[in-house]
Amino acid sequence: METHTAQASAHPNIAFIKYWGNRNDALRIPANDSLSMTLGGLTTTTNVTFDAELASDEFLLDGKEPGAAARERVAAHLDLMRLETGETRFARVESMNSFPAGAGIASSASAFAALTIAAASAADVQFDPRTLSRLARRGSGSAARSILGGYVQLHAADEDEFSYAESIAPREHWRLIDLIAVVDRTHKQTGSTRGHQTASSSPLQTARVADAGRRLEACRTAITARDFAHLAHVAEQDSNMMHAVMLTSSPPLLYWAPASLSVMRRVNELRQDGLDVFYSVDAGPNVHCLCTPDAAREVLSALGQVPGVAEILHAETGAPPTCT
Ligand code: PMV
Repeated sequence: METHTAQASAHPNIAFIKYWGNRNDALRIPANDSLSMTLGGLTTTTNVTFDAELASDEFLLDGKEPGAAARERVAAHLDLMRLETGETRFARVESMNSFPAGAGIASSASAFAALTIAAASAADVQFDPRTLSRLARRGSGSAARSILGGYVQLHAADEDEFSYAESIAPREHWRLIDLIAVVDRTHKQTGSTRGHQTASSSPLQTARVADAGRRLEACRTAITARDFAHLAHVAEQDSNMMHAVMLTSSPPLLYWAPASLSVMRRVNELRQDGLDVFYSVDAGPNVHCLCTPDAAREVLSALGQVPGVAEILHAETGAPPTCT
């Protein structure tokens, strides 16, 4: 049987309206719709080869064998891809991140988007973007959004079939910059898979989910109109609401470091001074600072002076994945 290596490259994304908690943990069907911007400039590139000579799946991440948990998660996703494509052979998977490994930048979105696309291509099966998004979601919820470029909405649903991402605007619609203030490079203690499972233990989660439709519409409207002030307001509110849920879950999750708070405060000061910038924080301590290209220089220099900021990564509205 012929073997060929497929290579896919995908970007991570930053959600302005975040998903936290699942309707179905096993299928990773999210509790609420989410909306993100794909992050060009940060890339995961993954090679997949199905090979009849292999006795099990092999996985290298940045040239090294990762721990058992990561290997099992990749093998489980390959099982799903085999089921969906009819492929029966084991796979050799090599994945490389262009951004520093363990910088606390969520790489599961770009990782499972690239793996899904490369595995389908290596199995010689053409799926439409909707199917690819739905399958990527099973590896990591946010990966469903990294199947597309620009601005992307992931639909929550009661059934697997209807929970996939769609484009709401291409990259060319509005160029925004994401300056990611890295305040801690160590691996997070509680990963998002575990976090999603505890979300419903917070008494605030019901209110967060109930209001998600309003926030999503406000965010969509702001993006369509390229209205930075309204986008800043709703995205910061959404990030704060997710962290309010995290803080009030059992057990509580506190992802911020002291320097995370310093960056958030500085971002708010800069906006009061008239700069177009807002923050958004995922399940980790690093702070995404979103700004217009015009504001980027000043924001970069201000962030560089905040004590505790170790590094600033640069990303911007990005393109869809590629595959060869
Ligand atoms: O894709 P996951 O399971 O890592 O969950 C992503 C969760 C957040 O990044 C915190 C929010 C989001 O919607 O991206």
